[in-house]
Amino acid sequence: MNTASGQFELDPASYDALVDWPKRLANEEPFYRRRFAEVAAQRVLDVACGTGHDVAMFHSWGLHATGADLDPQMIAFCRAKHGQSETLHWVVRPFTEPATPPGSFDAAACVGNSLALVPDMETVAHVLKAMLASLRPGGICITQVVNLWRLAEGPTSWQKCQHRPRPDGDQILIKGMHRVGVCGHVDFIDLRLTGGRFRSFTHAARFLGLRDTDLRSAALAGGAANVRFWGSYQETPYDPATSPDLILTCLRA
Ligand SMILES: C[S@@+](CC[C@H](N)C(=O)[O-])C[C@H]1O[C@@H](n2cnc3c(N)ncnc32)[C@H](O)[C@@H]1O
Repeated sequence: MNTASGQFELDPASYDALVDWPKRLANEEPFYRRRFAEVAAQRVLDVACGTGHDVAMFHSWGLHATGADLDPQMIAFCRAKHGQSETLHWVVRPFTEPATPPGSFDAAACVGNSLALVPDMETVAHVLKAMLASLRPGGICITQVVNLWRLAEGPTSWQKCQHRPRPDGDQILIKGMHRVGVCGHVDFIDLRLTGGRFRSFTHAARFLGLRDTDLRSAALAGGAANVRFWGSYQETPYDPATSPDLILTCLRA
């Protein structure tokens, strides 16, 4: 996985294995259905689609769905895993660039903490502006990032440990997250046992602690209206001290 600042690489299959997709999509589905219904969405875009499961879910609802990502390996994985058709597209594109032609989507999403992986707030504003430019007037923009402010300063919270059998041996993947001041860090440990030979790899990525106030200003400057925040996909109000997520929705003015 390549971040905007090229900070770490984790291959798509390993990233995919770390997520319990049925559980995650079940958690997200009602939220997306309600937001898309609010704008009668037919054409949806995910601007940092990773391994493409959200895009494939939107497509399974009968929507025209497009997944974009900076990383060509991710897009190749999406095509192989989910297929492509007249109504399901995959494209290599940075999320700082609007879709072509601009204004062609009813909904644009940037989720899974992707927006927080950029180097600075200026780039966050650039991404929101590009997402809004991809929408027709009244279309909806949805972003979800980890709410960094509920993490205690310092110690790593070890979140996942996954055994992945591979044709050539075994892989153990471990994911942790910790906060240092106004930034978070995601740490991956990748242990492989192949033919009696043991190898270990580590990957790390820094991410920004985003605040609702900054996101609101950036969205409004990028051409948004009706800016709303949520603390989870269950639509709980956003509380910096306790919410798992910081979710922004806004409409293109
Ligand atoms: C943490 S993954 C999240 C993927 C997916 N949205 C999900 O929820 O599983 C972050 C994704 O952002 C992509 N990415 C990083 N920088 C990007 C950029 N500048 N433009 C588009 N995608 C980018 C990475 O390649 C990766 O697939």
